Amino acid sequence: MVKMQESNTAIQAMDVSFFYGPNQALFNISLDVAPKRVTALIGPSGCGKSTFLRCLNRMNDIIPKTRLTGKVLINGQDIYDAKENIVDLRKQVGMVFQKSNPFPKSIFDNVAYGPRIHKLHDRKRLAEIVEKSLRRAALWDEVKDRLGENAMGLSGGQQQRLCIARALAVDPQILLMDEPASALDPKSTTHIEDLIGELRQDYTIVIVTHNMQQAARVSDTTAFFYEGRLIELGRTKRIFTKPKEKQTEDYITGRFG
Ligand SMILES: Nc1ncnc2c1ncn2[C@@H]1O[C@H](COP(=O)(O)OP(=O)(O)O)[C@@H](O)[C@H]1O
Ligand SMILES: [Mg+2]
Repeated sequence: MVKMQESNTAIQAMDVSFFYGPNQALFNISLDVAPKRVTALIGPSGCGKSTFLRCLNRMNDIIPKTRLTGKVLINGQDIYDAKENIVDLRKQVGMVFQKSNPFPKSIFDNVAYGPRIHKLHDRKRLAEIVEKSLRRAALWDEVKDRLGENAMGLSGGQQQRLCIARALAVDPQILLMDEPASALDPKSTTHIEDLIGELRQDYTIVIVTHNMQQAARVSDTTAFFYEGRLIELGRTKRIFTKPKEKQTEDYITGRFG
């Protein structure tokens, strides 16, 4: 498959505000995400990280009485344009959630789910995609002999890697991860962080984390959110060593949050 031409921004949020009914959750967020980099969204609970992440693939659309103003461009295209096809958008932009959510189906069928939705039914081709995706998610060796078994029998860490494999199976360019390791034990967390280190070579990753050490370990760029506003954006190393804003400094030094 031919990938889109690479440009300097994979995602451009332009003046994005977001409302749940009368409550405004995001205020005029403008943020460019570089391709094939890991961007971490940090900030105290309730500051709008998940809301913003969900704006990037229109996941908020399913929540009633919500409204977005501003624009989100992916590869230069406005994803809120009326002509935009959601199925295609979700193919381009994969998502992994805090709580792993495998389907109560076999390991194979979980990973084959997306390709099948996109009308791929050739068995040999599907088997290739399933293997490739599981390898990329660093899960293949653990499950290759039991692809027919129910995914619910996997450990929490394995389930989360399965969800990553499921997202990768439709060959997205962008991977959104909302606290993907926060429900996992330290060993599984390390596994996921190592995996992010591998995936960043091929994918643009935006990860929400409330774990600042994790943000510092896995990301190139960090965006600090506070009360629905983007307070500061910059190279991760700089944000954690020389924050420009007082609120960022207070947060990273643990004075609140
Ligand atoms: N489905 C929802 N309906 C109404 N309000 C919501 C919903 N989800 C989040 N919010 C509100 O939006 C704000 C931002 O929440 P969220 O994006 O979940 O923050 P974070 O991920 O940083 O913890 C909070 O005030 C939260 O209560
Ligand atoms: Mg959240």
